[in-house]
Amino acid sequence: MITDLKNRFLSAKSQRHNQAWLTAYDYPSARLLDETGIDLILVGDSLGMVVLGQKDTVDVTLDEMIHHLKAVRRGVSHAPVAVDLPSHTYDTPEQALASARKLMEAGADAVKLEGPLPRIIKYLVDSGIQVIGHLGMLPQHVREEGGYNRKGKSEEEALALLDAALSLQTAGCCAIVLELVESSLSEKISKDLDIPTIGIGSGLGCDGQILVTTDLLGLQPWFRPSFVKPKADLATPFQNAVKEFIRETRDGGKLQG
Ligand code: KIV
Repeated sequence: MITDLKNRFLSAKSQRHNQAWLTAYDYPSARLLDETGIDLILVGDSLGMVVLGQKDTVDVTLDEMIHHLKAVRRGVSHAPVAVDLPSHTYDTPEQALASARKLMEAGADAVKLEGPLPRIIKYLVDSGIQVIGHLGMLPQHVREEGGYNRKGKSEEEALALLDAALSLQTAGCCAIVLELVESSLSEKISKDLDIPTIGIGSGLGCDGQILVTTDLLGLQPWFRPSFVKPKADLATPFQNAVKEFIRETRDGGKLQG
């Protein structure tokens, strides 16, 4: 287990090393990612949408996260592995600790949770759990929000976000993911914090970036967030290989017949 994430991240930030984080949900993709030298692998609750075909992340369960985390853990020997606490598994400090302990037993180095919850985060950190915060757009609240809306546009919202980020740092977070935050604000938050900010759709002023791997690789062409510039179009070679297999199998069948 990697136990020095806070120091590792603080020194990355002080050396201006911009961290690249990606998600994984299974053994082969985790192993491939780990071999690239990626800075952190997140078993995100985006699992619900990317792997399980659900419309959002809200119904993902702790057992599902544990199942996929174990597969990822088997494929990783270098990068830190973080995992999302899914929705309603951290409603109280005690529930958060029980859920986080199960994830640590399944192989996580750190847990990530959504929202301005310094009391819960401090309780986890004081109990020896490494915690990554998540502010801005909170996908676990997408149903109340009615969509994936950009955050920090009004001065009031910007001040609240800055305040929340500082409170998460004080509570002991080792890093904070900023999702869909106005880029000038995420830049300011990044400057004001000692711990790194890792942005997703929040501009280039953060101390690192995280993406859902399938978005980066163009594996789900039916869903592409506007801020993602895919680096590959793997859906096409995937389907071409399958079509070739189908052709060869059918032709072979004809030859044998
Ligand atoms: O669930 C997830 O994949 C995330 C993102 C920040 C990538 O939380």
